[in-house]
Amino acid sequence: MRHIFKEGQLDGPTLLLLHGTGGNEHDLLPIAEMIDPSANVLSVRGNILENGMPRFFKRLKEGIFDLDDLVKQTKNLAEFIDEASEKYQFDRNQVIAIGYSNGANIAGSLLFHYKNVLKGAILHHPMVPIRDVELPDQKQTAVFIGAGKNDPMCPAKESVELEELLANNGADVTVHWERNGHQLTQTEVQAARDWYQKQF
Ligand code: MLT
Repeated sequence: MRHIFKEGQLDGPTLLLLHGTGGNEHDLLPIAEMIDPSANVLSVRGNILENGMPRFFKRLKEGIFDLDDLVKQTKNLAEFIDEASEKYQFDRNQVIAIGYSNGANIAGSLLFHYKNVLKGAILHHPMVPIRDVELPDQKQTAVFIGAGKNDPMCPAKESVELEELLANNGADVTVHWERNGHQLTQTEVQAARDWYQKQF
């Protein structure tokens, strides 16, 4: 996958950055800098192009995902993280995802399909990636969800559903609410940073 790797403390955390639809691997670099300037950064560009806009899996229309492709791309991403940890020599057990929108959805999908795939995840404006699957045990995983009470793309009740699904499978989930639609605001990133500093 097209990506940027920025080396920090190799034996410390690695931030896996996953952009929103139409973004790229450069978008979330300033956020990683705010969250943990000493971390390694693995920032990935989504493999799918939708009318020229990169994203991480196909969708049939807005909010309706191509679930076969979601499962396939989730596996690709999990394998890519494994390969990157060998290539760049970072600690595979300390990968913390930071995803926004479509990037948060594929990060959520990693947690819905694989155990021990992420140590933690900051999900900005995620949806429930897939329903009717049995989630793996996520007892070791800490998750921050940044959600909007008035987010037209990711309805508030879906954020609550995601929180419940993850928490019911053992994840330690914190939800932070905003009222700025689907936007990723400075206050939300600051809340994520405060959460990260307490957790890791
Ligand atoms: C998705 O397709 O993952 C969601 O609709 C959010 C987005 O458009 O990025």
